[in-house]
Amino acid sequence: MKIAIDGPAGAGKSTIARTLSRELGFIYIDTGAMYRALTLKALMNNISIEDSEALCELAQIIDIHFEYNFNEQKLICEAEDLTDLIRSPQVSAAVSTVASFPEIREIMVKRQQEMARNHSVVMDGRDIGECVLPDADYKFYLTASIEERSRRRLEELQSAGYKADMDATKKEILVRDMKDTQRQTGALKILDDSIVIDTSDLTATQVLGRILSIIRGE
Ligand code: DC
Repeated sequence: MKIAIDGPAGAGKSTIARTLSRELGFIYIDTGAMYRALTLKALMNNISIEDSEALCELAQIIDIHFEYNFNEQKLICEAEDLTDLIRSPQVSAAVSTVASFPEIREIMVKRQQEMARNHSVVMDGRDIGECVLPDADYKFYLTASIEERSRRRLEELQSAGYKADMDATKKEILVRDMKDTQRQTGALKILDDSIVIDTSDLTATQVLGRILSIIRGE
């Protein structure tokens, strides 16, 4: 079974996808983490995030995979655990530019499809239902108000030890929303077969409950 979860930043996708995959015993693939790892490696190697050719070369050779440690998912890139570093504000500010190049997306989509082959998966991102798993059994689109998404993102940043304020966080999310919905390929959108859930006033447990009852046909 394949379950696609798309939606804008801060809609609660990764929390839900992670718990859903545990509940169902499926593999969880966080595709945003893959674009983030590529972006971080580019920044570390002084590759311009506007240089699509150099980014493509990097994307083709870089090893990005997930490892599971006591129920926790780790993003491993070239034998380094980058799970925490890929969430830095610098990466968040640059990742949508890196993800906007169609040739980069082509490489990443192929890798994601390969990861999902022969497995039951929950995969979250922006273009999962449309490009990565167009035949997914379920396509969920999670969303929430900009205020709630900014509040969640701010909380995440602060608990990871970053200094951040509400205005800057909201701005970062709005810029990312714009880039993620307006790019040429793999843009974030609600599909005809998307099941839309607004998580603004729901707890993670409530969202999970809704999704599980849809999947279980209750
Ligand atoms: O899910 P996230 O916020 O960690 O994703 C980071 C960025 O990666 C997001 O702003 C857009 C990009 N992304 C993408 O273009 N396609 C995906 N399938 C997943 C993420």
